[in-house]
Amino acid sequence: MDHIASKYTPLAIGFHWLIAVGVALTVALALYLEGLDRGETKNLILSVHKSVGLAILMLTWLRLIWRLTHRPPALPTNMRPLQRLAAHATHVCLYAITIAMPVTGYVSVAARGRETTFFNLFVVPSWVPLDRALSNLTETTHRYGQYAVYALVALHVGAALYHQFVKRDGLIRRMF
Ligand code: HEM
Ligand code: HEM
Repeated sequence: MDHIASKYTPLAIGFHWLIAVGVALTVALALYLEGLDRGETKNLILSVHKSVGLAILMLTWLRLIWRLTHRPPALPTNMRPLQRLAAHATHVCLYAITIAMPVTGYVSVAARGRETTFFNLFVVPSWVPLDRALSNLTETTHRYGQYAVYALVALHVGAALYHQFVKRDGLIRRMF
């Protein structure tokens, strides 16, 4: 057994859990949304979905700046090279998907000429041309992107549970 003393910094831990909760929330809201008829409730839920999604986008950029300027704590020494590679690849894909989902969601809305209001605070300025084809393409990407989110999160949480209950190496504590 190989115990790990080092941890992520409080800032990195804060980013991690804010974004993790945000992703769970956007997905839950979106799935709830799909079953609603047009109307006030649907508009409200969609508006919160979009706002939380954009907050995830901003937090991910900040988190990436942290990540590129800090070295994360070293992985347990008994991890095989292939496991390290798998962990690293999953993390890169998680960063990519927390950028790709908000961007495709936003572009699909903006290219259709619809506004996005960030938590009722301000209208997000649009830099996207009015373009039906672009809107349809990004909408489809956004819809199928959800399966990438599910697969990556399942892999990631599965790995965390494996470390916790099979390898019992205390890796999870690095993120708490
Ligand atoms: C991490 C961020 C996000 C995640 C994980 C996410 C996930 C999802 C999911 C799972 C759906 C349901 C797709 C379906 O079953 O058809 C959805 C729908 C949608 N999302 Fe997102 N989304 C995110 C961010 C955003 C953002 C930032 C916007 C726009 C600013 C947005 C706009 C939409 C719209 C317009 C729909 C379609 C709703 C409808 O059916 O009317 N999303 N999203
Ligand atoms: C119950 C849910 C979750 C648990 C238990 C968990 C646990 C962890 C742990 C223990 C690490 C550190 C891995 C290491 O030490 O190398 C980590 C890293 C990471 N997690 Fe999670 N996580 C969860 C959900 C999520 C979600 C939903 C996302 C994003 C959508 C996410 C994105 C990431 C990323 C990107 C890293 C890599 C950090 C780095 O750059 O080094 N996690 N997670």
